[in-house]
Amino acid sequence: MNTFQLYNPTKLVFGSGTVRQLGMLLKPYGKKILLVYGGGSIQKSGLYDEVLGHLHKNGATVHELAGIESNPRLTSVQAGIELCRREGIEFILAVGGGSVIDAAKAIAVGVPYEGDVWDFFVGKAQISEALPLGTILTLAATGSEMNGSSVVSHWEAKLKRAFSSIHAYPRFSILDPKLTFSVPRNQTVNGIVDIMSHVFEQYFSQTPDTPLQERYAESILQTVVENGELALADGENYEARANLLLCGTMALNGTMNPGMQSDWASHAIEHEISAIYDIAHGAGLSIVFPNWMRYVYTSRPDRFAQYAVRVWGIDPTGRSEEELALAGIDATRDYFRRIGAPSTLSEAGIGEEQLDRMAEEAVRYGPIGSFRKLEASDVREILRMCL
Ligand code: NZQ
Ligand code: ZN
Repeated sequence: MNTFQLYNPTKLVFGSGTVRQLGMLLKPYGKKILLVYGGGSIQKSGLYDEVLGHLHKNGATVHELAGIESNPRLTSVQAGIELCRREGIEFILAVGGGSVIDAAKAIAVGVPYEGDVWDFFVGKAQISEALPLGTILTLAATGSEMNGSSVVSHWEAKLKRAFSSIHAYPRFSILDPKLTFSVPRNQTVNGIVDIMSHVFEQYFSQTPDTPLQERYAESILQTVVENGELALADGENYEARANLLLCGTMALNGTMNPGMQSDWASHAIEHEISAIYDIAHGAGLSIVFPNWMRYVYTSRPDRFAQYAVRVWGIDPTGRSEEELALAGIDATRDYFRRIGAPSTLSEAGIGEEQLDRMAEEAVRYGPIGSFRKLEASDVREILRMCL
């Protein structure tokens, strides 16, 4: 295990009816609030009215930024920054999925910065302050509700980039599993794949002697696999939705892999796909991950064999390490197929036209990944396997 520091300042408020605590949670902050949300799901579910009710009861002045896109766009973020400056906004409240939260984070760090907020995404400037923000999460997937990362698309340039900063952690995040009852089947599937992928990025690691982190990761994976199927069978199964929601948060809030080097090559590759084709992040990952696994498993077949046995319950009797590793990868692919996630680029209507560009862009700052370092030629081969 490597040396590490662990610090996560986000207060997590979890459970049925917890939106009622909004007024109390907002007390330490100013009354001028920017409400950020997406394309209408919160109006349909009634959450919008409930949130406004709590805000007004709390004496807040509310301005709204609606219509945040899935794969949120820089133009929306810039509009939000302008709005905050014009109205003297003191607190940002994001209500929605990861896209809404990521846009809110980018607005929060962009307001006090004199330059273009895109600078933070391309490493031209360091984030040193931010407006405070809070979230009400409506979709189990990204973990953005309890981390400092934001992913935004520069649509015109076909670039999708991320930043991570301690200043961008939400002050609080409210997670009510009932708010996820209305998540449609395909978005539930995307969320399941994204959560599992976050675990994969951290679990397939070369760092030795990390038994607790490995079991933590395996237990999240098993919990997601079981509860994912239950939530897909009955979208209003409270326990299944609650377990998925908690898994999503715990998979990417820093607690799962302290002292372990993580990989993130598959995410880097997926971001290149969704930057150009605007497909759902989870859909891109379900295509990329099994192929990445196939490409790299020989770098540490023992970890892949362990994964097969502990997560998928594959019987090791009479099987070599390599056979087990491959069986675990097949089990992953089969599960993704079973829940209806795509497994090839062609299923998503994507051909080979942009493969070279995506491979070059993915390694723009040098090789990606740490489980196995990938050059452009490796990324191209993985993408080719995805076709
Ligand atoms: O826009 P609305 O109308 O709200 O509808 C959304 C959207 O269409 C809908 N939805 C959300 N909650 C719902 C609901 N529909 C019905 N009922 C509900 N309760 O779901 C659709 C997808 O929402 P989105 O926020 O785009 O999904 P997700 O949470 O998967 O976020 C994806 C984005 O997060 C980034 C991805 O790259 C992508 O841009 N990521 C952010 C990360 C982070 N900040 O740490 C890490 C991730 O790896 C990821 O890269
Ligand atoms: Zn992800």
